[in-house]
Parts: sequence; C-alpha cells; structure tokens
Amino acid sequence: MGVIIINFKAYREGSGSNALELARIVENVSSRVEDYIAIAPPYLDISEILSNVSVDVFSQHVDAVSYGSHTGMITPEMIKERGVKGSLINHSEHRLKLSDIEYLVSKFKTLGLISVVCTNNVSTTASASALSPNYVAIEPPELIGSGIPVSKAEPEIVENSVRSAKEINPDVKVLCGAGISKHEDYVTALDLGADGVLLASGIVKAKDRRKALEELVGLR
Ligand code: G3P
Repeated sequence: MGVIIINFKAYREGSGSNALELARIVENVSSRVEDYIAIAPPYLDISEILSNVSVDVFSQHVDAVSYGSHTGMITPEMIKERGVKGSLINHSEHRLKLSDIEYLVSKFKTLGLISVVCTNNVSTTASASALSPNYVAIEPPELIGSGIPVSKAEPEIVENSVRSAKEINPDVKVLCGAGISKHEDYVTALDLGADGVLLASGIVKAKDRRKALEELVGLR
C-alpha cells in the first residue's frame, strides 16, 4: 500500500467538467483499495470538487506570500481555508527560489498543510529533505510525460534519493514520478523504497481513465 498523487496539470482532460469527472473516478477507486490517492487539480476546479467529491485535494503550486498586496497570487492561508490538504511545491514545471521553498515548508507546518517538495535529482532531494517537508518527490524532468517510468528507467535515482532523503531526515517520505502509468511501475517504485508516486499523463490523459487508475492500483 502506498501513496498516489495525481497531478491534473493544465491538461484539458484535467480541467472543468473533466476534472470533476476524474475526481469522482478517484473517489470510487480509492474506496476500493488501501492506497492513499489524492489529486492536484487546477485551482479553478478545486471548490467544485471539494463540494461534490470526497477526495483529498492538493494544489499544484502556491505562492510564497501571505495575505496582502499581491496580484494574481494564491497564499497558503487561502488553500488552507478552502479545505485543501497541501500542495506541490517547486514542481519542475513551476520552479521556485530556495528561500521561497523554505518559506512555504515552514508556513505549511504552522498551518497544518502537507508539503510535497518536488526535486530533479539526488542532491536536490537531499537538500529539500533538510527543510523537513512531509514529502519530497523526485522527478527527472526529461522523463516527465514521456511514458518511460522513472522507477524502471532510472531505478538508481529513486533508490539513491530515498537513501539520501532518509539519511538527512528519516521522517521525510519520498515519492517518485515521471512516466508512471502501470501497476508494475508503481510496485517497482515501492520496492525501491519510495512511499508512493506522483503522476499525471498516464491517468489524466488515458482514453479510459477509470480503467487506467484501476490498473495502476492493481484492481485489474
Ligand atoms: O507531477 C507529476 C508529473 O510531473 C509526472 O508527469 O505525465 O510523467 O506522469 P507524468
């Protein structure tokens, strides 16, 4: 049993009515397995999902500011107040400065939000772990959206990331992501010591998303 976070990104298949539909699929599949499955839909779809579906929601990004004179920004306090559980931080498609990552991890602790800091290699995983987030998520950028699973193509990155993260902070949980879509990819990640996976296209863009998710968790 592991952790699965599905990032809807800005895919058409993951926004608007498609986001709500996918959230309902996740709610259903999640009720039939032991794995913890959460979603990270676009901001604009979060309220509707939270009002209609029983599923843990993360945001895909959050800005390193508090309430105030900031235009077009989303603060940690805003997501907390709306019932969002936590957020991805520093996703490779939305990188942040180190000082902003540190601000967010620490603010999340104060607010009781779950921090998932994304990293791109073993050394950044180690550095991120030193900030004591709840999760680090190692995703080699070149494999993102490739359909080539990191757990099979670069098992040493996953293993070494887990080792270095736990050496620095045994409490930090490690996810891996990029190219994950099959049950085998997920199980391999867990076998390599990861606590779970962060994934997107393999589910969000699948022709039959229910089937793809059921397959991922081993229900098929
Ligand atoms: O946030 C997850 C993501 O970057 C991995 O994307 O499409 O390779 O599963 P994908």
